Amino acid sequence: MKYNFCGHSGLQLPAISLGLWHNFGDVDCFATMERTVRTAFDRGITHFDLADNYGPPPGSAESNFARIMARGLSAHRDEILVSSKAGHLMWDGPYGDGGSRKHLMAGINQSLKRTGLEYFDIFYSHRYCPETPVEETVQALIDIVHQGKALYVGLSKYPVEVARKACEMMASQNVRCLIYQDRYNMLSRNPEAEHLDFLRQQGLGFITFSPLAQGLLTDRYLNGIPADSRAARESGFLKRETITPELVEKLRRLNAIAAGRGQSLAQMALAWLLHKPEVTSVLIGASSPAQLESNLEATESAGFTDEELGMIDEILAN
Ligand SMILES: NC(=O)c1ccc[n+]([C@@H]2O[C@H](COP(=O)([O-])OP(=O)(O)OC[C@H]3O[C@@H](n4cnc5c(N)ncnc54)[C@H](OP(=O)(O)O)[C@@H]3O)[C@@H](O)[C@H]2O)c1
Repeated sequence: MKYNFCGHSGLQLPAISLGLWHNFGDVDCFATMERTVRTAFDRGITHFDLADNYGPPPGSAESNFARIMARGLSAHRDEILVSSKAGHLMWDGPYGDGGSRKHLMAGINQSLKRTGLEYFDIFYSHRYCPETPVEETVQALIDIVHQGKALYVGLSKYPVEVARKACEMMASQNVRCLIYQDRYNMLSRNPEAEHLDFLRQQGLGFITFSPLAQGLLTDRYLNGIPADSRAARESGFLKRETITPELVEKLRRLNAIAAGRGQSLAQMALAWLLHKPEVTSVLIGASSPAQLESNLEATESAGFTDEELGMIDEILAN
């Protein structure tokens, strides 16, 4: 595994991290998730990303992670970085969602209890909440560090101008905003508009989620929708109707470029991100150890020629 320094900090993240959003809930097979986490750790993936609402049901990914840790991995706690988040709907009533101090403090306390951990390595505000003054959310994050509940804090899905204000406020109280987390993949390139410049200027790390566009940027959907796929499970996050004939044609053309490079489409999609200097870590999901093992080969991928990048851009633009 290759490790990258997280922005201007002393903390190194693995080039590939594993997220537990899907495939780690109580609806999933415990033996498979345990093998996936253990395979990841054995292959040098030292970073596991959680959130309070991951499951389903919400909370169960954190409880299952606790069980996996207790069955042998907790002896390696100091070799592992665990992150969690609060900010999306988690429980009923006015305090179960959003960016208030009440929600974040209750959220981290619940998450620590579920995971059985004494502290998180990184704790995030899971989303920008326009109804909450950002100063309130950020003060809660600063206090979480001062209380020792998290070593570092980060932001996820924030507009650049709000993120800038948040970083400045943290710096004024001697807490570094370590890292920014957002969706970035070949099919979803929004961070290129403003965020990449901002992250470079501020010296923040960048961890990119859904690098495979939830499985679209793999060979999963080139010939229909497999019964065991995320799109077939209809969780509501990857909808069947997204997989149009036009998209499949695009994916086939990308797949042909990947084949020409001697790799799978998934490996090429990950390598495309790994070669961006702003990207500290690429945060993948995996429904089996085999997917994970195959995706890890992206870390040994060759770079891209200008011709390849041009062809990829041309396919993505159409
Ligand atoms: N901050 C946020 O708001 C936010 C939002 C979303 C995600 N995240 C984080 O990012 C992590 C990753 O997100 P994601 O799960 O959407 O990532 P992803 O890597 O884009 O998608 C993972 C899915 O792609 C399929 N897949 C993976 N490797 C494959 C391969 N080699 N061949 C075929 N199919 C393959 C699997 O789906 P099948 O089930 O079909 O096998 C797998 O579950 C999450 O777990 C979470 O930690 C954060």
